[in-house]
Formats: sequence, structure tokens, C-alpha cells
Amino acid sequence: MDNTAQIDYWNGPAGEKWVRDADRLDRMLGPFAEAIIETVKLSAGQRVTDIGCGAGALSLGIEAGTVNVDVTGVDVSEPLVALARRRAEAAGARAKFVVADASSWVPEAPADAVVSRFGVMFFAEPVAAFANIRAGTKPGGQLSFACWRPLADNPWALTPLMTALPLLKEPPAPPEPGAPGPFAFGEEARIREILGASGWSEITIKAWDGDMRLPGADPAETAGFLMEIGPLARLIKEQALDEAPIRAALQAEVRKHAGTDGRTRMKAAAWIVGARA
Ligand SMILES: C[S@@+](CC[C@H](N)C(=O)[O-])C[C@H]1O[C@@H](n2cnc3c(N)ncnc32)[C@H](O)[C@@H]1O
Repeated sequence: MDNTAQIDYWNGPAGEKWVRDADRLDRMLGPFAEAIIETVKLSAGQRVTDIGCGAGALSLGIEAGTVNVDVTGVDVSEPLVALARRRAEAAGARAKFVVADASSWVPEAPADAVVSRFGVMFFAEPVAAFANIRAGTKPGGQLSFACWRPLADNPWALTPLMTALPLLKEPPAPPEPGAPGPFAFGEEARIREILGASGWSEITIKAWDGDMRLPGADPAETAGFLMEIGPLARLIKEQALDEAPIRAALQAEVRKHAGTDGRTRMKAAAWIVGARA
């Protein structure tokens, strides 16, 4: 299974940006960690795997919220795993973090539960990856993950792209359907197909809709964040775009969404997916 492109991506400048922005991203994505934690029922002594754990917020949240569970976070990104380990040490947490490709990684002992916050949409061969994840889970073990619904349902990601569109050198090529990336699990039917084909059962898919608070104390900071992370950031880099006009257009757009506190909230739409091994 060739996940090289994603492994390179998350070990390159994108991974470094996620490290720099980890605290802000965790605040933005906090509601999704809560939604996952709510769905997983754990008892003392159980083992949990966090797939694509990044800087470890979900792993550490699970350990903090449950007595005596063994959490292992797995991620291909060396810089993010290094940050997760530093955070665990600072918090006195026992969670372990491993640099590995979750599509082939084998745990020391099967997990009672597998969780992921936006870390499962990057596999080149998702059925094979989810079959491997299931093989590392006890029969009947729980799966709970968050993934984005389609880009069109996520104004927090679509609005920056649409704002920058007139300033791009060429319109972005639409991603191949199902190609690895943040919106690869947008379609409910595809999630059911992948999980069913990889042997998971009792699949539940619930919509999460809400206003997501974007990082930044004011529209200028928020616009800066949107240029750093996400689909627009990729385009700016790929097309070597002049950033100044994009920043100005984005600030004007973001200002329309800012509340009286200066903070920007935009609609986000995700799936909270559950299944049993
Ligand atoms: C959108 S980030 C989410 C990070 C973290 N779960 C969070 O919520 O902050 C996606 C993560 O998936 C990881 N990832 C991508 N492909 C992976 C793979 N094949 N195996 C393990 N992790 C992977 C990336 O390195 C990245 O840290």
C-alpha cells in the first residue's frame, strides 16, 4: 500500500505548520474530540488506539477522562508525534505515541477501542487499511471516528477557496473521487462500503453540524490562519501565488463572519462514525 505522498506531506512543511498551530487547532477541533469521547465506552485496563493521532489531543483527552486506560497514538508524522510525546510528558500521561503507517501497523495487543479525529481519510487503499485496523482490534471492539462531510457542506473550508478563486493562476483541479484527503470520506455510502468491505459491523453514521470557531483573535489573524492550513494553503504553495491580494480578500470575507467579540465562526459539517470489529 503506497501512502508515500501523504507520509511526505505530513512530514514536510504541512506537518511543521500543524505543530506550530497545534494549540489553536485543538481549540477549533475540540468539539469533535468531545463527540468521539462521548461515544466510546471504556473501562479500566482497556486499550485504545488513536489513528492519525497528530499532536495527541484526543489520546490525551481519552486518558484524562477514563481511569487507567492504555492509549496508543499512531501517526506517520514525526514532528507531530514528537509534539504528542512532549505533551504527554508535560501532562504526566502514560499514553504512548508511535510513528507508523496505520494501514500496516500491528499493535502489541489488540485494542478494545479505536478512535480517530480526522485521521482516517488519507489512506491510498482504505479497505485494506481498515481491515488492518480491524485485525488490531478485539472482536466486538469499538470504532469511533470523525471525518468531514463534503467540501460543499463545509463553508469554513469552501469560503476561503471561493474567495481566492479569482486570484488563482488556474482553477483548482477537482480531486479524484475518493482520493486521499480531508474530504475523502464525505459520502456516507462510501464510508459504509469501506467499513463493510473491511469487516466492520454495526455501522452508525451521525451528522455533526455546528458553528466552528476559527483560530485568530481578529479577522486579520483568522485570514492568516486560513492561508496557512487547509486546501487554500496547498494552492498558494502549488501555484506560487502572490499572497498579499489573497490575504486582503480573505480578511474582507472573514470580517463578514466575525462576531462582536472579533472571533470568526463558520459552519462545519462532519460525520461521527461508529462500528464494531
Ligand atoms: C487532519 S490531521 C488530524 C490530526 C489529529 N488527529 C488531530 O485531530 O489533531 C491528520 C493526521 O493523520 C495522519 N496520517 C495521515 N496518513 C496516515 C497514515 N497512513 N497512518 C497514520 N497516520 C496518518 C497525519 O500525519 C495527520 O497527523
